Amino acid sequence: MTFPSPVSYTDLMGGISEILFSAEQIQARVLELGAAISRDYVGCRPLLVGVLKGVFPFMADLARAITIPVEVDFMAIASYSAESRQHGAVRIQKDLDSAIGGRHVLFVEDVVDTGLTLNYVLRNLRSRDPATLQVCAMFDKGTRRLVRTPIHYKGFDLPDRFVVGYGLDYRELYRNLPFVGLLKADVLHPDEHTKKGSSK
Ligand code: IMP
Repeated sequence: MTFPSPVSYTDLMGGISEILFSAEQIQARVLELGAAISRDYVGCRPLLVGVLKGVFPFMADLARAITIPVEVDFMAIASYSAESRQHGAVRIQKDLDSAIGGRHVLFVEDVVDTGLTLNYVLRNLRSRDPATLQVCAMFDKGTRRLVRTPIHYKGFDLPDRFVVGYGLDYRELYRNLPFVGLLKADVLHPDEHTKKGSSK
């Protein structure tokens, strides 16, 4: 059975069964993360690095919550195949604009799920010799982790459920919702109840 595409904000909202983190909760937590980062990186001019697309709302909010000078850069990655993805191998579609050797890099992630993407990207970034490399993730699905990955700044823990909103998509929709929530069962394809997002 196929479901009609949402054509209005009401349609989008109609697909949500439960709000896990409200816009207010998210914004309050982002302010706390920004304050901690501003304290820890004072005098360092950190470079915030994110992987498109899911990170865009968090990156924008976090950068504005940080009260010291920061720079921002983005990468885009894609899986070679479903099989290679299971080993964490991804292809860089768009690389960073800036060199990161000797820089204080803070890698910003929307959600860490299996940790495979984070693990791959961190290995790649580490090979470029940054002075420091730390991780700030808004959401953490710790119970799904397949590889150990450091998270130095964390927003919230998530249950092992497929979520949308605040950058996270289902088939490219729902990224613009200001909260994070669960999709109604009849919106989600049966295979995707426990699966992760189809695209960054
Ligand atoms: P990992 O490599 O398994 O840790 O996957 C991380 C990426 O999967 C995130 O950056 C998201 O793009 C995507 N992802 C993981 N869980 C979800 C979810 O519940 N909804 C939407 N996207 C997700």
